Amino acid sequence: MSRKVIVTGGAGFIGSHVVDELVRRGAEVIIIDDFSAGRLSNIRHVLDRVKLIKASILNPETYRNEFRGADLVIHEAALADIAGCELNKKMAIKVNIEGTLKVLETCVWADVEKFVFISSAGVHGNNHNSNFILSEETAYAPLSIYGMTKAAGEQLTKLFQRNYGLRNVILRYFSIYGPRQIPKNNSTSGAVAIFTNRAIRGLDIVVHGSGKQIRDFTYVVDTAKYTVEAALKIENETVNIGTGIPTRIIDLAKIIKEVVNPKVKIRFGPRPKYDADGGYADTSKLVKLLGGKPSTKLTNGIKRYLRWVKLNYQSVNVGY
Ligand SMILES: NC(=O)c1ccc[n+]([C@@H]2O[C@H](COP(=O)([O-])OP(=O)(O)OC[C@H]3O[C@@H](n4cnc5c(N)ncnc54)[C@H](O)[C@@H]3O)[C@@H](O)[C@H]2O)c1
Repeated sequence: MSRKVIVTGGAGFIGSHVVDELVRRGAEVIIIDDFSAGRLSNIRHVLDRVKLIKASILNPETYRNEFRGADLVIHEAALADIAGCELNKKMAIKVNIEGTLKVLETCVWADVEKFVFISSAGVHGNNHNSNFILSEETAYAPLSIYGMTKAAGEQLTKLFQRNYGLRNVILRYFSIYGPRQIPKNNSTSGAVAIFTNRAIRGLDIVVHGSGKQIRDFTYVVDTAKYTVEAALKIENETVNIGTGIPTRIIDLAKIIKEVVNPKVKIRFGPRPKYDADGGYADTSKLVKLLGGKPSTKLTNGIKRYLRWVKLNYQSVNVGY
C-alpha cells in the first residue's frame, strides 16, 4: 500500500492499532498526537517506521505542511472519555468540534484525497428500537456532551464534502476494547478495561444501574483492520463498525468475573444520567460494502486483553 496516511490521535488506544495496520500494509504513516491521553509505549515498536509529530490538532500551523500530498487523514484524535467530556464540556467542544473543524480545513488547504471521521454509537443516545439495534439511519439523539460533539463532527464532515468536495468516510465505532486500553481517571467509559482491572486487583466489579444496558463489544485489532479497509474502499458513506452482537453490561461483568477472577463480587451502583441504554450495530451495510465484519469472540478478546494487562501491570495501574 503506497499511500501517505495521517493518523490524528495515533498514539492513543485505537489510533495506535490503526497505525499498526497501516504500517503492516506498507503505508507511509504520520502520527499527530498531543499525548494528552496517548502514550509513547503504544507506538514505540513502530517509531522507526512512522513520523511522529507531537502537536495539538487545535494548532494547524504546527502540522499543516505534513498534510501536503496525503491520500488519507484518519481522524481518531478526540476527548474520547464520556465522563471527562461531561466534566469539561468546554474542552470537549473545543477538541472534538473545533479540533475537527481545524483538521477538515487543513485537509482542504492541503488538497487531501479523503478524510475519515471517527464517530461513535453515542450519537444515538437511547434512540434504539425495541430490539436495541442501531442502523446508520437511526436518528441522532445524544444523551452526552461526547455524543453531541460526535454528531457535530459528522455534520461538519458532510458539510465539507458538499461545500468543498472533500471526500469522506464516517465510521461509527461501538464499544471498542483490547490491548492498550487503560481506564481513565473516574471514567465510566471502557467497561471491559475497568471491570478487568478491578477484578485482577480483587476489587468488586461495579455495574451502573441494573446492568441491562446493551453494548456491542468490538475487539480493537478487528476495528483497526476495518477502519483501514473502509478508508481505502468506501466513499461518502456512514458505516457502523461493530460485531452485530448485543451484550448486557451485567453479562459482561459475569464473563469478566469468570475469566479474570471468580472470587470478586459484582455489585450495583448509581447510573450516570448520560449513560445510554445503548444498542448494538446493524452490520448489514458494513458487510455489504466490505464483505465482512469484526468477528473476535468476546471471551477470546477479554483473554487477550487480560494477557496484555498482566504483562503491563505497572503501567495500567491508573484511574479505575
Ligand atoms: N474506545 C471506544 O470504545 C470508542 C467508541 C466510539 C468511538 N471512539 C472514538 O475513537 C477515537 C479513539 O478513541 P480511543 O478510545 O483510542 O481514545 P484515546 O484517548 O486513547 O485516543 C485519543 C487520542 O487523541 C489524542 N488527542 C486528544 N486531544 C488531542 C489534540 N487536541 N490534539 C492531538 N491529539 C489529541 C490523545 O492523546 C489520544 O492519543 C476517538 O475519536 C473516540 O471518540 C472510541
